[in-house]
Amino acid sequence: MTTIRDLETPALLVDLDRLEANLARTADYCAEHGLRLRPHAKTHKTPDIGRMQLDRGAAGLTVAKVGEAEVMAASGAPDMLVAYPVLGESKWRRLLEVAQRTALTVALDNAPAARGLSRHAAAGGVAIGILVEADVGMGRCGLAPGGGLVDLAREIAGMPGLRLDGLMFYPGHVNLAAPGGEAAFEKIGRDLERIYDDFRRAGLPLNTVSGGSTPTLFHSHRLPGLTEIRPGTYVFNDCMQVAMGACEWAQCAASVMTTVVSTPREGAAIVDGGSKTFSSDPARPAGSGLYGRVTDDPAAGFYKMSEEHGFLDVREAETKIRIGDRLRIIPNHICTAVNMHENIYGVRGEAVEKVWKVEGRGKLQ
Ligand SMILES: Cc1ncc(COP(=O)(O)O)c(C=O)c1O
Repeated sequence: MTTIRDLETPALLVDLDRLEANLARTADYCAEHGLRLRPHAKTHKTPDIGRMQLDRGAAGLTVAKVGEAEVMAASGAPDMLVAYPVLGESKWRRLLEVAQRTALTVALDNAPAARGLSRHAAAGGVAIGILVEADVGMGRCGLAPGGGLVDLAREIAGMPGLRLDGLMFYPGHVNLAAPGGEAAFEKIGRDLERIYDDFRRAGLPLNTVSGGSTPTLFHSHRLPGLTEIRPGTYVFNDCMQVAMGACEWAQCAASVMTTVVSTPREGAAIVDGGSKTFSSDPARPAGSGLYGRVTDDPAAGFYKMSEEHGFLDVREAETKIRIGDRLRIIPNHICTAVNMHENIYGVRGEAVEKVWKVEGRGKLQ
């Protein structure tokens, strides 16, 4: 039996009991509230974990990239949503190939992205579902509620090869633990009602209304008219999710096991993982200001990174940290950290039960 002591570091570990509990909790919530679950695979990027989600009742998977869609098709997903406006001839061609293997839906917010897809879908003899993306406060992609959104939906409804299914939005700006978070969430409900009225008046379909994020996951039933949610981070969770009140430390399934490679000064320890292991995502939870949580000794502060070095301030550490010690660190943002790793090691206690290749890592195109 391989144990975590046999692994070289840095190694991305996933506690299988916690992963399974996170999957079950979310599947149960969706079943209880009649919500379809199309989880975002950007977090794990691993077909086997996609399969675990599907086995527990997910209706399909969501991805951002065409390359991720190609990889996740290997999970046997019967249905896939590309929640990103795809542009470019060769990408449309590749998406058509995905659509020939699995039911495909694409979310977009502009006519050029729809027209290109329409041309390829019509020529390939497939129907691709379309969700028009609304901006309900995040200010990223998506059209604000109003005439422009309805006009785009109407135009898409007339395009060959496309089937207008409804609406997508991403509530990525909502942090229910922060001041103003609840108000931002409630405003989404009002925005949605307005969009529904516009769509109904225009005779446009709303068969799918796709929302959801991890921080708002268990509040999704409070939004009117939602048919599905797409949380991604919930599989593993991370320091950001704890800071937003979305989970407890005991629900964080993923950590990076590092080795202390140097203790060059009093109160300092260096581990063998920096920005090329944890990613240089700037997210640092308010209050901690740190790059991750050292689970073996949370009083050791992970305060700085260079590419291959993680700097720990161990002056307050409860244990004596020595060269060769192995320390597990929960990343601030697990999605970008996973993207740095070749393998995920699925562990139960000390035993390494699974070695999963992160097949979707680096699939940027
Ligand atoms: C469009 C879209 N849907 C769903 C998600 C998943 O959200 P979360 O990471 O909060 O689980 C993301 C995350 O970036 C996203 O961009």
